[in-house]
Amino acid sequence: KKKLIIDVDTGVDDAQAIMVALAAPNVEILGITCCFGNTPLENALKNTLRVLKVCNRLDIPVYRGCSEPLLAKKRQAGDYHGKDGLGEVPDPDAPGLELVQKKKAVNAMIKTVNQNPGEVSLVATAPLTNLAVAVQLDPSFPKKLKALYIMGGNTDSRGNTTVCGEFNFVADPEAAYIVLDRYNCPTYIAPWEFSCSNSLPWSFCEQWLCQNTEKAAFMKKISSLSMKKAQSPEYQKEITEGKGFNSCDTYAMAAAIEDAFITESDEVAVTVELAGTYTRGMMVVDYMELLKKKHKAILMKNVDLEKLKTLFMNSLK
Ligand code: BDR
Repeated sequence: KKKLIIDVDTGVDDAQAIMVALAAPNVEILGITCCFGNTPLENALKNTLRVLKVCNRLDIPVYRGCSEPLLAKKRQAGDYHGKDGLGEVPDPDAPGLELVQKKKAVNAMIKTVNQNPGEVSLVATAPLTNLAVAVQLDPSFPKKLKALYIMGGNTDSRGNTTVCGEFNFVADPEAAYIVLDRYNCPTYIAPWEFSCSNSLPWSFCEQWLCQNTEKAAFMKKISSLSMKKAQSPEYQKEITEGKGFNSCDTYAMAAAIEDAFITESDEVAVTVELAGTYTRGMMVVDYMELLKKKHKAILMKNVDLEKLKTLFMNSLK
């Protein structure tokens, strides 16, 4: 089985990614570490526990990570995921935060990877703060990972948070910089524009959500607000040019689960702009190899969307 640690800021697409992983028979989730991001850390923890409860997997340890960026001013997340980060459909019987592990996320990451050197992949769908702290605490951590899968960054100057910055990188540019600089394990990145041009057709989303299961009912509820927003003319123009629903975090997850998911990619060194007036937090892609960085990341360009659809369908069965 593929051993995964998942680092999330559970909003709606993180929830979708977690459920895809939970349903995959070839995956063992060793822990879920939470970070601030789409919503404050406490919500991310609560939302993660809600997802695990619906899937009957509260046995998976959930860890508290960073609640603030390393250096950047904390940003108020947008309203795409709703005020609670999970579509504003509260569950009165939601599990309480006493279920969160005492051990902190970064320590848990390091310990788990040290216990399984070379075997664990890390899927990161939040600002990269926890990962940056992990490498500061244990510089040998990245080389003991099997691979790192990141949703974040952008390859053009098309942002979703600032003019040219993607949310996860803009939320903590220094953390993204540290991770791209020091994680020398195989690194796969699902950048923002890539996820936009590989969105899931609306007709598929209907099929996916109309399955007659408790998980589908939950998913339908939590996704409704963000899907409505995604269908509004404003978001369609900005996000997917009207083609469908962009569940960005699930691309990083699918790449970790399915070996042949990525069908076209660029292998190139990347870093993050830390200073620009308009460009702080933007991913810098060194196509001309001017930075002379040895380590290259694999930027997803095209994927087998049918494989993703199958993972999505199975996640609600
Ligand atoms: C990222 O920000 C959030 O909206 C998503 O969860 C994803 O991780 C996209 O920029």
